[in-house]
Amino acid sequence: MSGVFDKFARFPLAHLPTPLTEMKPLRASLGPACPRLFIKRDDCTGLGGGGNKTRKLEFIIGEALAQGCDTIVTTGALQSNHARQTAAAANTAGLKPVLVLLDMVAYEGHAYRRSGNRLLDDIFGADVRIIPQGSDPTAFFKQVMDELKASGCKPYFTPAGGSTVTGSLGYAAAYVEIADQLAERGIAPARIVHASSSGGTQAGLVAGRQLRPEGPLVHGINVYRLDTDKMREDITALANDTAGRLGVAAPMPGDVLLEDGFVGEAYGIPTPEMVEAVELLARREGILLDPVYTGKGMAGMLALIRRGAFAREEALVFLHTGGMPGLFAYEEEFKKG
Ligand SMILES: Cc1ncc(COP(=O)(O)O)c(C=O)c1O
Repeated sequence: MSGVFDKFARFPLAHLPTPLTEMKPLRASLGPACPRLFIKRDDCTGLGGGGNKTRKLEFIIGEALAQGCDTIVTTGALQSNHARQTAAAANTAGLKPVLVLLDMVAYEGHAYRRSGNRLLDDIFGADVRIIPQGSDPTAFFKQVMDELKASGCKPYFTPAGGSTVTGSLGYAAAYVEIADQLAERGIAPARIVHASSSGGTQAGLVAGRQLRPEGPLVHGINVYRLDTDKMREDITALANDTAGRLGVAAPMPGDVLLEDGFVGEAYGIPTPEMVEAVELLARREGILLDPVYTGKGMAGMLALIRRGAFAREEALVFLHTGGMPGLFAYEEEFKKG
């Protein structure tokens, strides 16, 4: 791995490099105009069910330990993969995990509030606090932090998705890993396609491209916010700050490619295209996506392929960012009988 990352505190958590494999059966099912398709298996990062947060958490936990903290506090939706992975990472680092979860998704599936990632949070022994409906999340947060400090803890806070400059370093390093894997195998030109939400993954990848300027383009599929332009602006700002921390030039304004049109009604609410994508990957490739992020991200990539948006010569690398436990929270969408 490039020495540029050596100056940052880092706690090893991930099984790296993750595999990069070709999806030939999926490509065959999409017709002759489909480019070569690859998948980067960051669902196989190894920690507590895998997923993209493991790479971010290497730097987040590294920083928390360097600051002498003994507790890590984070937040997210009830089915947050980030919260679940933070709990697992904290356990391996000897930190106490505190998860402040927001019941923000209007999904009424019977398992949503108790299975999937919520179940795993309990198995990891996290201290889970659910923000009561109608209460002010900022005030609730302050109360939790004050309580932890009063009890003698030294908490480290990382926001939803771990999408800070520190967390994004994990995906700058991932970019280098992917670019090197593609170069070793002579795969070019190429484009990374992935689900984008709190933005740290995309910001890190875009900043990482400044270390390998000939590497693949980065193409996010918005699965989170209804205002894609504002989200693009925020990701660009985070990418610039991450590049600054790395000591490389800021990316160009147009480097943050973010596709609109695949969130559906709202974050966390299933779409028929997501269900189709999850089933297609399971049935063609034996790969499990998730209902909130990678299912919608893959649905976006499939729609763009079908519209002829990508050149046939350009290999597409779908970055599988994990989230499989979420399938169990949304079982009604998939159960046949
Ligand atoms: C499975 C999965 N994929 C993608 C993302 C999006 O990553 P980011 O929040 O860095 O945009 C998340 C974030 O929670 C996730 O859990």
